[in-house]
Amino acid sequence: MAADKSSLFGRSLSRPTKAMRVLRNEGLVALASRCAGVVRPHVYLNESHIWYSLDLTSLPELPPFPAGLELVRGTEERLVILDQLDTINSSSGRARLSQGAIWWCVLEGAQLLFSCWVFSTMAPVAAAPSGWLLLPTGSVVLEDSVAAPAARGRGIAPVAWRHVAASATGSAAVMYTKVAVTNEPSRKAVMKAGFREIAEQRYVRIGPVRRRWLRRASDDAAWLAKGLRGRASGR
Ligand SMILES: CC(C)(COP(=O)(O)OP(=O)(O)OC[C@H]1O[C@@H](n2cnc3c(N)ncnc32)[C@H](O)[C@@H]1OP(=O)(O)O)[C@@H](O)C(=O)NCCC(=O)NCCS
Repeated sequence: MAADKSSLFGRSLSRPTKAMRVLRNEGLVALASRCAGVVRPHVYLNESHIWYSLDLTSLPELPPFPAGLELVRGTEERLVILDQLDTINSSSGRARLSQGAIWWCVLEGAQLLFSCWVFSTMAPVAAAPSGWLLLPTGSVVLEDSVAAPAARGRGIAPVAWRHVAASATGSAAVMYTKVAVTNEPSRKAVMKAGFREIAEQRYVRIGPVRRRWLRRASDDAAWLAKGLRGRASGR
């Protein structure tokens, strides 16, 4: 559920600004390598994700939020703080907010320690035919979770997800998310928050050729199999 990694310049500043910064600080070879990193996923992509679900109708008691931290719903006025994390940039954030996505932030004073997004109706999924996956009624998708590097390992993400999930219970009965198979820290963190695995998704793109598979899919993943085959448009 990490954000699109296609920009290896980091995603908060504009690309020319970031390119100049990389050139100045790391040199031409580093810049060339990062440019290759941006282009490569458009030519060749081979990714595997585990999909998880969290039943919002039977959430256990909410854990207390760590002292000194607050979970706030992000607004357009706050978008500038996205610069503090390696995640989507503020213009992508603005577009998402205008499309109805919900942005959650964990703050310690003015410091952004954690950020994540909740989508309903449709969620951005590279493997979906149009890049957007249609969601079943009564479900939401958690995406682009990221904790500040210095704040990792403190259990902030699992607690924040639990609170975010509780806030969604009025409108949804299930929350889905996906994590790269190789992303051990995230896989541990989502399990701590109570998510359980429902399927493994593989997506391979070689030029114009795209292939997607679901493995170990439980009954709860039938909508996913359909969505990955079908067509979604818009956002
Ligand atoms: C995934 C992520 C949001 C988890 O946030 P978190 O608040 O650090 O979560 P936790 O504190 O529960 O730590 C989860 C696991 O991260 C690992 N971890 C611990 N300290 C860490 C550190 N300093 N740096 C990196 N990973 C660490 C541990 O394996 C830990 O599990 P354990 O406590 O059972 O050993 C965070 O690691 C992150 O931002 N990763 C980069 C972005 C990303 O991969 N996003 C995808 C999210 S699905």
